[in-house]
Amino acid sequence: MNRPSKQPICSAWLLIIMNLVFGTSLAQTITWSEHIAPILYDNCTQCHIDGGIAPFSLVGYDKAKNHANSIAAATQNRSMPPWPADPKYRRYAHERILSTEEIEQISQWANNNAPQGDISKAPADPKPTSGASLSQPTLSLKMPNYTVNTSSDEYRCFVLPSGFTADQYLTAIEVVPGNRKVVHHVLVFYDTSGIPAQKDQADPKPGYLSFGGTGSPTSQLIGVYVPGQEPYQFPDGLGAKLLKNGSIILQIHYPSYVQNEVDSTRVLLKTTTETLRNMIIAPAVNHAQSLQNGPLYIPADQTKTFVSKFSLNNTLTVFAVAPHMHLVGKSIKAFNVNGKDTIPIVNIPNWDFHWQRTYIMRQPLIFAKGSTIWGEGYYDNTAQNPNNPNSPPVAVSAGEGTKDEMMLVYFWVAGFVPGDEFKIVDFTPLKNISTTKIAKQHWIKIYPNPGRGNQLWLESQNPCIAYSVFDAAGKIVKSGVPLYDNQLSGTMIPTADIPAGYYQIMMQFADGQRQSQSWIKN
Ligand code: HEC
Repeated sequence: MNRPSKQPICSAWLLIIMNLVFGTSLAQTITWSEHIAPILYDNCTQCHIDGGIAPFSLVGYDKAKNHANSIAAATQNRSMPPWPADPKYRRYAHERILSTEEIEQISQWANNNAPQGDISKAPADPKPTSGASLSQPTLSLKMPNYTVNTSSDEYRCFVLPSGFTADQYLTAIEVVPGNRKVVHHVLVFYDTSGIPAQKDQADPKPGYLSFGGTGSPTSQLIGVYVPGQEPYQFPDGLGAKLLKNGSIILQIHYPSYVQNEVDSTRVLLKTTTETLRNMIIAPAVNHAQSLQNGPLYIPADQTKTFVSKFSLNNTLTVFAVAPHMHLVGKSIKAFNVNGKDTIPIVNIPNWDFHWQRTYIMRQPLIFAKGSTIWGEGYYDNTAQNPNNPNSPPVAVSAGEGTKDEMMLVYFWVAGFVPGDEFKIVDFTPLKNISTTKIAKQHWIKIYPNPGRGNQLWLESQNPCIAYSVFDAAGKIVKSGVPLYDNQLSGTMIPTADIPAGYYQIMMQFADGQRQSQSWIKN
């Protein structure tokens, strides 16, 4: 038998061996000027700039070199740039995430003593942005000067009457921070009740302290700002209805340890009195309305998973989402289920109250009439949760305070109109993250197997929050939330209604992972 391929295989091996022996000397040298500066200026200097919210600047070679090792570490574990959504679950418009190659380049550069390279090839240094970018706003409102002096995170609401004498449709919104060093994030609400104004009056300083929302049940979220974010433009023909005589409430997060910094943040709105298709921003995942195993109550020293379910009476177009929990919350996820099809919406595997944001779909998602929006929130009310606001832990229930909890996912949503699926927001190619590590498999045990009785018991390393039982043909015969049996202190699936046969039990865990195992019923 002849082997024509022998020769090429040998030379390929030779190349690999040469690469192993000579290492980077054969590879291209990664320099700040050519490779690293463009990455940092695209992904970091919105915050890491003089006068920005990050604790140090990354503008210029010297600063980057000084931080080379910590930059490599923070990018490798994906803590920087902050982007809490799991990119393996869903990708969004205008993402701020690094590709596997970019992370690898930073690491090589740092390991190689952070060379500068040919400075003439470096991009121009970014300048701090100050002004607004939305042109010709209908309304520009500025909060009064507020001097921030705080040793812990401060959440303060500022009430700005809209002056609208007629109902309007909001078509674009931009938040322009007054002091970029201290404005960590802003939630923008609209309210026609008098509650925010009353709270403002009761607080001697400008605005009033309020952690979760505005403290008014009628407040409607209309925008979310994080540093570096562009104004949000509603798609053509759509707008969010704002009733006349309402107020805009800016809830600003000022980070801990700020001294004598003055802020006066502005909000710019584009509105029209013309009637548009109404886009609503509503929490379809909502602990107050759709929990299957509520109420939202987490006893001290316990972890708990809540599942919410919301069935759709109409076909909907979803443009963006924004998850919201407080400090005991650890992970949150939402997905749409239509028969056997699941549309992933958002997954935040490591919830961090400090990095809330809106995730805008690259292309709108269409949810069919009769389908279901599922939400899953996992809470850790033990002393092991470093963000637990109580030490020792105490029972936590739903509310707006720092020590209360919430489970919300806001949806920017409108009734579906054919053509919505083509309203593409972001045409840029996706960055490659393919070789990023994937979570390990969970330890699970299901018994008895083969099964006989009326229950199938589950034991798993991570709480199983939902299951589906598929038959040999791949059809779902049963699905739901596993039941907790207090007497036997175990988690189980009732199986009396399942006929004898071969099945796959698909389990969904609190951290978002799914895993399946085969099971036989005799
Ligand atoms: C949206 C704002 C923002 C962006 C974008 C951002 N950072 Fe940060 N960074 C911060 C803040 C704020 C801190 C301070 C710690 C904190 O609050 O988490 C920080 C801290 C750091 C630290 C200190 C160690 C750590 O992990 O906390 C490093 C290193 C760092 N950033 C590197 C980067 C790099 C590299 C990029 C871009 C690839 C980047 N950051 C993008 C805001 C940002």
